[in-house]
Amino acid sequence: METGKYLLETPSSKLVEVAAIASKYKGRRDKLMDVLIQVQRVTPAISREVSGVIAREMGLPLPDVYSFVTFYAMLSVHQQGKYVIRMCKSAPCHVRGAQEIVDAIKEQLGIDVGETTEDGRFTLEYCPCIGLCEFSPAILINEKAYSNLTPESVKDIIKQYIREDAI
Ligand code: FES
Repeated sequence: METGKYLLETPSSKLVEVAAIASKYKGRRDKLMDVLIQVQRVTPAISREVSGVIAREMGLPLPDVYSFVTFYAMLSVHQQGKYVIRMCKSAPCHVRGAQEIVDAIKEQLGIDVGETTEDGRFTLEYCPCIGLCEFSPAILINEKAYSNLTPESVKDIIKQYIREDAI
């Protein structure tokens, strides 16, 4: 199968779910963290688009929500690399070879899940479903998604990041 490459977009059905969560806390800035935790179960990437829905439904300014999301992301993880590789750990990816993919990445970068390369370029993490189950196994590298992966194709993708970063 061919490797797919997508810019991550949040499907409108997910945005509806996000809106439903956020609308329960209209005007409750103090509940923003709770909302984000719930939203992350629906969509792991809290993009500007998702932040916009949260801001609208909660009646908060978008910059406030987005800066909170950024701050929250920094709090939620240890020091991250320039490129954060997130391996989907949900069942469809698991049954279609996620372990082989993660093993290939670990071998190539010499790190374990939860670690960052010594040069600070790559962090490897697990994440929940990223909505590409039909094209599993799938990963995110920052906000770009890659699917239909094989151990060979994922190594080629990472090589490309290594090359581009060296320019
Ligand atoms: S289970 Fe991996 S993308 Fe959905």
